[in-house]
Amino acid sequence: MTDGHGQADDGIEPDGGEATTEDPSTEMSITTDVSESVSASATTGEADTLVEARDVSVYYNDERALNDITMEIPRNRVTAMIGPSGCGKSTFLRCINRMNDMIDAARVEGDLLLRGKNVYDDDVDPVALRRRVGMVFQKPNPFPKSIYDNVAYGLEIQGADGDYDAIVEESLKRAALWDEVKDQLDESGLDLSGGQQQRLCIARAIAPDPEVILMDEPASALDPVATSKIEDLIDDLAEEYTVVIVTHNMQQAARISDKTAVFLTGGELVEFDDTDKIFENPDSQRVEDYITGKFG
Ligand SMILES: Nc1ncnc2c1ncn2[C@@H]1O[C@H](COP(=O)(O)OP(=O)(O)OP(=O)(O)O)[C@@H](O)[C@H]1O
Ligand SMILES: [Mg+2]
Repeated sequence: MTDGHGQADDGIEPDGGEATTEDPSTEMSITTDVSESVSASATTGEADTLVEARDVSVYYNDERALNDITMEIPRNRVTAMIGPSGCGKSTFLRCINRMNDMIDAARVEGDLLLRGKNVYDDDVDPVALRRRVGMVFQKPNPFPKSIYDNVAYGLEIQGADGDYDAIVEESLKRAALWDEVKDQLDESGLDLSGGQQQRLCIARAIAPDPEVILMDEPASALDPVATSKIEDLIDDLAEEYTVVIVTHNMQQAARISDKTAVFLTGGELVEFDDTDKIFENPDSQRVEDYITGKFG
């Protein structure tokens, strides 16, 4: 499961093995081999864009929750989304894997591109999309199944070939949980501690070998020790995956992310930049006020 991502013909790449990627030097997406672009970014140290929002607005009935969001999320980096409650962070996250499709009142406008392909195109299968864009929620939500079956779940529903035992082991190792559970794989996932359950959910999300992992406040229900484990894990995951994380914890955003997007009331993306810049010297006074706790 460690080899190239996203080779499946699942509608996101309607032409089969070829994948589109965004060339930072051109406005339009170009077709290129994924492994080529990955090695190019590895040699230059520059991250290319994996997910791009262009003028994305989201409405719940007539209420606008997100207002014209345009941003480029780099590959194999951690991008944090911060901002006060209700500013649309979860809504934006759910645009990326089309979870808003499941909310009747929600309507998405604009383009949301994954490697240059609009995930809202008619030929994109949302289930296949969600395999490539995994999600971890605030509250750990293992299924009432064994640890093994929790991790194998995503593989089973997609009827994936391969050695499930090896994939389960590898996913649990990547989620930094293997050593703690390797002798109890048949026991219920619900019997683990909260922090272990969250790592189990991360293992479940990475088992189908996604490209992007969305995390909506993944550590906010955990104690400081479990939180720090999750933070270390996120750092490791970014070597292999593109991580987009919502957090209310500014220190956490500053510690773990490469890029930070600041959303403010009204569903506006006020500033998006390198995390150091956002926390040390933001352009926007409103961002500075928010970060220093003057409002929010
Ligand atoms: N299912 C829904 N139906 C109607 N309105 C919704 C729904 N989900 C979110 N909203 C509204 O959209 C806006 C943005 O909500 P969202 O949950 O994306 O904010 P958030 O930034 O994630 O907040 P929090 O930090 O509290 O999680 C809010 O005004 C919220 O009330
Ligand atoms: Mg939220």
